Amino acid sequence: MRIRRKLVAGNWKMNGSRASIKQLLNGILDQNTESGCEIAVFPPVVFLPMVQEMLLSTRIGLGAQNIDSHVQGAFTGEVSASMVAEFGCTYVLIGHSERRAYYAETDDIVSEKFSACVASGLRPVLCVGETLEQRQKGLTEEIVKHQLQMVLDNCGIGTFAEAIIAYEPVWAIGTGMSASPRQAEEVHALIRDVMMQEDSGIGQQIRLLYGGSVSPESASKLFAEENIDGALVGGASLNAADFLKISQLAGH
Ligand code: PGA
Repeated sequence: MRIRRKLVAGNWKMNGSRASIKQLLNGILDQNTESGCEIAVFPPVVFLPMVQEMLLSTRIGLGAQNIDSHVQGAFTGEVSASMVAEFGCTYVLIGHSERRAYYAETDDIVSEKFSACVASGLRPVLCVGETLEQRQKGLTEEIVKHQLQMVLDNCGIGTFAEAIIAYEPVWAIGTGMSASPRQAEEVHALIRDVMMQEDSGIGQQIRLLYGGSVSPESASKLFAEENIDGALVGGASLNAADFLKISQLAGH
């Protein structure tokens, strides 16, 4: 079986100031001993130039939390894929549940953003996941499959060659209530299966991250699961020591 290198991605969301982000990043850079996994950070967009500069000649990757689907034009307040690419981004989060819930991003918008990201040579991190109500109704599988299938149908399996998928159950995000390794693995195996059916090569090599209250305490059991290839970390990524601990656990 192909070895998939784990990825630990820090989603800083709308947090930080120039000073606090410098401090956080310096903490990460100072304490970062080479672990076997890949690390990437996703700062708020205005801090991209500063973070890009600080990451020069390091192995830490950079990503944006969002892009607009259009290439350019009269879209006040928006930022395009090529703009974030120019500031050193390799990755973009697409379809995070907060964007779906608070900014009314539909599966169609998510697909358009996914395409725009790929067209600019960036690697989408496509986020999928069910709400608590959907899980309680037994709809987890259906919801996750649907979210994935919409992007597959709209964009085509070929666009997933460089993509990453993050399974983030909405009820686990920012709640301190992580999915159990078994709950997460069940959904990861399902996602792997869907992808394998589309293209066995892509299905085998695509990395599937788990996100939702990942902490230094919960990470190692999650990473031990066959189809969990890393984590998308929110809260714990704002603490350098916790974030690095999680990445070290992924490196084993
Ligand atoms: P959390 O956020 O780790 O704070 O739960 C994860 C995410 O939303 O990506």
